[in-house]
Amino acid sequence: MTVVMLAGLLAGACAAWRYQRGVQPETAHAAPLAMIAATVPPLETSEWLAAHFKHPVAAQGAAPAGSTEIEASLRPEACGACHVQQYTDWKASWHALGMGPGLFGQFPSLSVEDRVRCERCHAPLFEQAGNDELGAEGLTCAGCHVREHVRYGPPKEGSPIAGAPHQGFVAREEFQSAAFCMSCHDFKPTSSPVEGKLIQETTEEWRRTQAAAEGKTCQACHMPGGRHLWKGIHDPEMVKQAFDADARFISDGLRLVGKLVITATGVGHRFPTYVTPEVWLRVDQVDSEGLAIEDTRGEGLVARRVNIAERSELFDTRLLPGESKTLLYDEPLHPEARAVVARVEVWPDAAYERVYEGYLADGWGNASLIAEALANGKAARFVAWEQRVELPE
Ligand code: HEC
Ligand code: HEC
Ligand code: HEC
Ligand code: HEC
Ligand code: HEC
Repeated sequence: MTVVMLAGLLAGACAAWRYQRGVQPETAHAAPLAMIAATVPPLETSEWLAAHFKHPVAAQGAAPAGSTEIEASLRPEACGACHVQQYTDWKASWHALGMGPGLFGQFPSLSVEDRVRCERCHAPLFEQAGNDELGAEGLTCAGCHVREHVRYGPPKEGSPIAGAPHQGFVAREEFQSAAFCMSCHDFKPTSSPVEGKLIQETTEEWRRTQAAAEGKTCQACHMPGGRHLWKGIHDPEMVKQAFDADARFISDGLRLVGKLVITATGVGHRFPTYVTPEVWLRVDQVDSEGLAIEDTRGEGLVARRVNIAERSELFDTRLLPGESKTLLYDEPLHPEARAVVARVEVWPDAAYERVYEGYLADGWGNASLIAEALANGKAARFVAWEQRVELPE
């Protein structure tokens, strides 16, 4: 952990970054997890769990004799007829969006093997492959809960309901473990790392946190009270819980000096955990109309940028809980400056935005779907924190 902090500080000491978009702004490389002590032992994938998420998931086969049409259906809408709350939550979640324009837009240019690889996590059911309707529903209820028409769910209090629909269910404790999420949120340990880190290793990050030591699973934060919400980096309220920020400035009338510091707090892995989001730290001097004055910007980034094709890491400034990132600011005070504004901006799909721009330029994939995915990514950006400090006239 010290390595990360030190690297962060050294990068911070190089003063405010001023750069054109696309120019590499950061130099630090967060330490590989192998160098950071874990707070809980490695997670076991039980035999049942390994079989549950084996890909391809076996065909469900015929529904048990006497099943009604709604009991036999794998459509989330059918489950939703009885499980209203879970359906309403799921429908608005990113799991339901698992097969959006970002996926379908790439499919025309991917090999069949690659598409099957994507479907393992994005639309895992055998019945979804080649089925336009069920396929487009992404990670469905059945993708997590149904195998060979048997319902599996977390243990519940009280006795099973006699004669319940779909012949009741089989209780499995795995539903309440981080190992359940690990099936898709961590790449296989055998996949090739970049700078000692897998492209996705959220559960391994979680194993280095105080939250894990306290028994707070992924579900505790992402499925509070069993709710099927899975809010993450796209949700401003969720992201506001992830960090604290503080900005201070002083001026002698000639220069404006200060800093913006953010500290990861309410997150259960690195902030952010994936390689796609970027968290921008920004400081601007603003004029009497509140407009940013050109050439007064200081900028820093909390993100991991990798070049997937070259398997290289440009930088990794993500923060484990308790770690901070400081943007130092030291610039001439502009004569028209009336205030200084410090901001934390979140671009949840930043890496994909760049990838999609490349696809459009190269004519790769389905252009109209890729353009839609790019527009969605841009529209998802938001300001997570902002502070304005007035300057004396
Ligand atoms: C006709 C109504 C109905 C439909 C349709 C239905 N369920 Fe259920 N489901 C129930 C009832 C009632 C129970 C409670 C059984 C019990 O407690 O013994 C239940 C229990 C469950 C459980 C276990 C809950 C727990 O506490 O662990 C899961 C998981 C589940 N259903 C998933 C599904 C999925 C997935 C679908 C769609 C593929 C579905 N159900 C369709 C009525 C329905
Ligand atoms: C990403 C996998 C996943 C998907 C998709 C999913 N669930 Fe669940 N579900 C879970 C997990 C994990 C739990 C246990 C949560 C806990 O106990 O903290 C659960 C719990 C449940 C329960 C038990 C009662 C409760 O709410 O805790 C029911 C019923 C249920 N899910 C139904 C559904 C239905 C219906 C859908 C689709 C509309 C669905 N699930 C989609 C993973 C999933
Ligand atoms: C091991 C599981 C896994 C595999 C395999 C996988 N993904 Fe994903 N993918 C994820 C997860 C998890 C996320 C969400 C990441 C996050 O936000 O942390 C995601 C997010 C995405 C997104 C951004 C969200 C969206 O829907 O627009 C795209 C696009 C995407 N994946 C495309 C692909 C493609 C194309 C493939 C196959 C070449 C693929 N994925 C294979 C797990 C996987
Ligand atoms: C079968 C694979 C699978 C399982 C199991 C799974 N996820 Fe996901 N998850 C995905 C994929 C794929 C995405 C990206 C969906 C998309 O493309 O929009 C995702 C997205 C998410 C996101 C939203 C990220 C964002 O961009 O805001 C959160 C949060 C999340 N998952 C949490 C969980 C948790 C917690 C569990 C365990 C209870 C879990 N997931 C289990 C495949 C899975
Ligand atoms: C202490 C609460 C907490 C725990 C525990 C936790 N998360 Fe998160 N998670 C958050 C918060 C807050 C965010 C939003 C900020 C962010 O994106 O890092 C988030 C974001 C995410 C995202 C969005 C993508 C991204 O790049 O950040 C995914 C995916 C995710 N979590 C999966 C998981 C999984 C899987 C686990 C368990 C191994 C887990 N989380 C444990 C709080 C938690």
